[in-house]
Amino acid sequence: MKVLVTGGLGYIGSHTCIALHNAGITPVILDNLSNSSIHVLQQLHKICGQTFSFIEGDIRDQHQLEQIFKQQSFDAVFHFAALKAVGESCQQPRRYYENNVCGTVTLLDAMYNNDVTRIIFSSSATVYGEPQYLPIDEQHPISATNPYGWSKVMVEQILADNCQSDSQQLAISLRYFNPVGAHSSGLLGESPNGIPNNLMPYIAQTAVGKRAKVSVFGDDYDTNDGTGVRDYIHVMDLAEGHVAAFTNHQQDSGFLAYNLGTGQGYSVLEIIAAFSKASRQQIPFQMAPRRQGDIACNYADANLAKAKLGWQTKLTINDMTRDTWRWQQNYPQGL
Ligand code: NAD
Ligand code: UD1
Repeated sequence: MKVLVTGGLGYIGSHTCIALHNAGITPVILDNLSNSSIHVLQQLHKICGQTFSFIEGDIRDQHQLEQIFKQQSFDAVFHFAALKAVGESCQQPRRYYENNVCGTVTLLDAMYNNDVTRIIFSSSATVYGEPQYLPIDEQHPISATNPYGWSKVMVEQILADNCQSDSQQLAISLRYFNPVGAHSSGLLGESPNGIPNNLMPYIAQTAVGKRAKVSVFGDDYDTNDGTGVRDYIHVMDLAEGHVAAFTNHQQDSGFLAYNLGTGQGYSVLEIIAAFSKASRQQIPFQMAPRRQGDIACNYADANLAKAKLGWQTKLTINDMTRDTWRWQQNYPQGL
């Protein structure tokens, strides 16, 4: 089997290429390199012992997509390509909608024209908006709090309508909680541009000496220690969730959505403590005001994926911090 992986040089797409390869599925990567490095390819080669096909291109380029689908046949598209910075999406909403929403419509058109009927989409727990109850299951009301989040909500709606209009279509929306970690080889991981917005890369850069100290955004939440609680999931568990979703729905059609999370929350202070243990050093931190728009607590009900896909996470918080630390030490400047 062969699949097209849009955004396949990015953080989650590249790790999913490894999981696909391990499952005997050939990934062909399409990426415009807007937020990734071409050096990811050589790292994939080192890890998998094989060169992956790479096409430099853009999901908004209908002509190029038509050519790709005419030249090769694909069993599905794994669609990771998107812009993903929440703050930036508030500053540049049209750019986000154009890339994430218009780009997906262009991709769906080209797939439709060439009889590629299956898509696995990178959605996010952000489509649940403000949590109304915990743990969050797939029935939780859909909403968003920023343009990035709305772009995910819109694409899910488009995918659902597309499936409604044509009984051949299959769209699986995977709603990620908080992906962290790196490949256990230490050859591949996340390297955000500039100052990291997310907690784990910020801690990792502090541990390696690139940042002075971690600011803990709020210590007065209604949680075990007052700091924010999230459902962190190891990127390789997440990658395997994609393979499970694809392989378990070979014969199916329609729109399906699954949470990919562990079902367990950890606080900011617990993550800092786990990282201190993994890196065998104290991580300097200071308490800071709450970050605007943050919620106290968020974690998944991951039972649907377990029941329908036979998938559940295997890796622990210690695996997440250990692998992040190994990667960060090997490649402090990224690839
Ligand atoms: P990433 O930025 O590392 O990867 C995205 C990749 O897509 C990059 O390589 C980028 O160059 C490419 N890309 C962007 N626009 C493109 C376009 N128009 N044409 C072709 N390639 C394009 O991000 P990631 O963390 O790997 O996220 C992958 C997907 O998962 C995204 O859709 C993101 O919204 C979603 N997601 C990520 C997280 C997270 O915390 N990382 C959480 C929930 C959902
Ligand atoms: C963020 C995104 C969300 C995305 C998710 C993916 C925002 C508002 N939301 O969510 O859309 O799906 O990442 O991983 O950006 N924290 C600190 N100090 C820091 C950074 C974070 O204390 O320097 C705290 C936050 O307040 C939060 C926790 O750490 O309690 C996790 O934050 P982060 O990694 O940014 O993830 P989310 O806020 O869950």
